[in-house]
Amino acid sequence: MDPLINPYRPGAGIRPPELVGRQAEIDLVDLMVAHSHRRRNDGGLILYGLRGVGKTVLLSRLQHIVERAGWVTVQLEARPGEPGKVIARHSLARGIAMAGRKMARFKHATAEVREALASITSFSATIGGTGVTLGVDASLHRANSGLIEVDLEELIADLVVPLQKNQSAFAIFIDEMQDLDQDLLTALLAVQHRAGQQDWPFYIIGAGLSTLRRTLAEARSYAERFTIREVGALPAAAAAAALTKPAEDLGARFTSGALDELLGAANGYPFFLQTYGKAVWELAPDRVIDAMSAMAGIEEGNADLDQGFFPARWDRTTPLERRYLNAIVAVSGNTASTASIAAALEKPASSLSPVRQSLIDKGIIFSERRGYVSFTVPNMDAFIRRQNDVDDADED
Ligand SMILES: Nc1ncnc2c1ncn2[C@@H]1O[C@H](COP(=O)(O)OP(=O)(O)OP(=O)(O)O)[C@@H](O)[C@H]1O
Ligand SMILES: [Mg+2]
Repeated sequence: MDPLINPYRPGAGIRPPELVGRQAEIDLVDLMVAHSHRRRNDGGLILYGLRGVGKTVLLSRLQHIVERAGWVTVQLEARPGEPGKVIARHSLARGIAMAGRKMARFKHATAEVREALASITSFSATIGGTGVTLGVDASLHRANSGLIEVDLEELIADLVVPLQKNQSAFAIFIDEMQDLDQDLLTALLAVQHRAGQQDWPFYIIGAGLSTLRRTLAEARSYAERFTIREVGALPAAAAAAALTKPAEDLGARFTSGALDELLGAANGYPFFLQTYGKAVWELAPDRVIDAMSAMAGIEEGNADLDQGFFPARWDRTTPLERRYLNAIVAVSGNTASTASIAAALEKPASSLSPVRQSLIDKGIIFSERRGYVSFTVPNMDAFIRRQNDVDDADED
């Protein structure tokens, strides 16, 4: 069918034609807004899940919802390592300065708003090293110690009254939150904790890999200030709707045989649904998409995934790392104990720690439980098997 009107949209962070199966998370945030309006803070929200499952697009939707409710927001994407640490502070400072511009237009409590802007100005200069002009001088006493935990808490404390008096709230949206450095993470968790205790209108809404859950569990008392939810594969009905609804809107439909094929191949994973949907649309000769077209689309879609989605990780690995990944597949598929990997490679487990850590740093595997590692990408095991088949054929 006409590629120009192809509705399906595979790609990191790209808004799907129909965001399905996430009503529970949307309801949670609606409730957060309603409670905040009544000056009650039930804590932040953390979404975790595998690669390509739809965390980023859900986070954007949630941000849109709270902004429509009059909240002021800041958006951050964490990155690993020392450069990530610097970038995160910079983005936070800039984001908060932009939020200040929005608060400058608040109608009520203008004296408190000016004080808040003074704190924002000093926070941005201290933490981000950037000057902002919000029409006020930087506060001489607030949010300027250079200790992120102290400064962030002082800053948020100074925003409370202006936000409350203007029926607003402040939210920081953080994507790839597993890559946030420890200092900033601790500071943010501490402020969310305080906000929960004092019913401040402040919220952290974060998304990332499931290591986040472990990090929060280790932060003990702070974890209770968060609702933690897995963003998982879509249930069958929602997965079907992700395919059928956009097609129906354009006057096309899938036969039940076609739908069975596609749903079976995608396993409920949004990235795969969009990829297959796009390929099938291109291959189907007319507006009724049958099983034959579906099968051809899956093949084409897999070829696309093997060119982009999977190699994005695989291509960055060393031969030793590939042997490690192969051992995970050989041992058990998607999750394996480090002991069994070591046994398969006939090496002492301790000698494999560096390769394991480097694969974690590259975002290819994660360790949710001590002693176990899993692929961050759904169906990575099948890709690696296909890869080995190609390599074997090359050798023949
Ligand atoms: N609920 C949904 N319904 C339909 N399509 C979706 C849904 N969620 C995500 N998608 C599609 O899936 C793809 C991946 O989404 P997204 O980038 O948000 O995933 P992610 O979990 O953030 O991945 P990563 O961990 O790689 O950052 C996009 O093409 C998006 O349009
Ligand atoms: Mg993402």
